This record gives sequence, structure tokens and C-alpha cells, in this order.
Amino acid sequence: MPTLIFVVSAYLIGSVSFAVLMSKAFGLADPRTYGSGNPGATNVLRSGKKAAAALTLLGDAAKGWLAVLLAIRFAPHDDGGLLMVAMVAVAVFLGHVFPIFLKFKGGKGVATALGVLLALSVWMGLAVLATWLLMAVAFRYSSLAALVAAIAAPIYAMLLHLRPELVFATAIMSMLLIWRHKSNIQNLMTGKESRIGGKKKADS
Ligand code: G3P
Repeated sequence: MPTLIFVVSAYLIGSVSFAVLMSKAFGLADPRTYGSGNPGATNVLRSGKKAAAALTLLGDAAKGWLAVLLAIRFAPHDDGGLLMVAMVAVAVFLGHVFPIFLKFKGGKGVATALGVLLALSVWMGLAVLATWLLMAVAFRYSSLAALVAAIAAPIYAMLLHLRPELVFATAIMSMLLIWRHKSNIQNLMTGKESRIGGKKKADS
């Protein structure tokens, strides 16, 4: 029963969209109505309001981090507890991608996944963040950076000898994140993807 409560709570926490909240707070248009249409930090940045984008990134990452941290704090120190942490990790990510408060049409999960990974293992989170930053600085495509970081995440998890449950949770998030970027992959292949800070027509 506590596992179910934690998993459902994590999903609800994940369902809170900081892109929508911050846009409202800054008096901006709903991010689902412009750019890529994605309620995420990259798209909020297309509004031109850097502070709103930064707070979206922080908020979406913090909710992933907090949900997993609470699970780690209260889960029993056994295999069942580890499974609960893995389930909470996936649940908060699913909440962001399929939020109950936004008719199940959420973001692509990059910031939330980063927060989750930082809570699961600081070293894995930092390695993923470094991968994202390196790719973003080199190519200036937020989506490409996220895709490479997502592919790298389960590899880092294995290299760091994380428990199989956590490697599995990381792999599930990576696969979902890549799937959520299918329009970006198409745009990258056809040269239509906008670079960080650039404008883009609604595509998803
Ligand atoms: O964080 C999502 C990013 O990887 C792509 O966002 O708005 O360009 O589809 P967007």
C-alpha cells in the first residue's frame, strides 16, 4: 500500500507542468500554442523570456529530484524498497509526459529525467548533464543533446554499477524520452530543427 501511495503521489507531482505555470506567472502565452508546442523549458525559451525558461527547467527537474529523494528516504532498505524507488522514478517521469492536469499531453521529459537521475545517483546525473551540455554547446540543438544524453544514461547507470532495478528504470525513461522526440528526430534529419533560442513552428 505505501508503494502505491508513493507511486501515485509521484505521478501527480510529475503532472505539475512548470512550463505552463511559469508562463502564466510571467504573463506569457501558453507554451502549447507556439514554437514546437511542447510544454518544456526549450520551448518557453522561444518566448524570449529567459527567466521563465530557467525556472521551468529548475521546477521540472526539482519535481523529479524531490519525488525520488522522498522515495529513497522512506522506502524500506530492502529489494522491495529498491523496486519502489525505481517505480517512483518512472512514475514522476510519466506524470510529466502524460500529466493528468493537461489532458495527458505533457512534455518530453528532459528536465524531469535529469532531476530523477541526479536523485538516483549524483554521478550518473552529473555525467548525463555534462553530456547534454557538451552536445548543446557543440551543436546548439536542445533535442540532439537530449537524445544523446538519453542514450548515454543507461550506459552510465551500468558503468556505475547501479542496481538492475535502477538501470531498468533509467532505460525505460530513456526509451520514452527518445520516442517523445520523434518529431525532433525528423526535423534534425531534414534540417528543419531550430537551434537553442531559435523560433520553430508548432510540430507536436
Ligand atoms: O526539452 C525538450 C527538447 O529536447 C526539445 O524541445 O521544444 O525543441 O521540441 P522542443
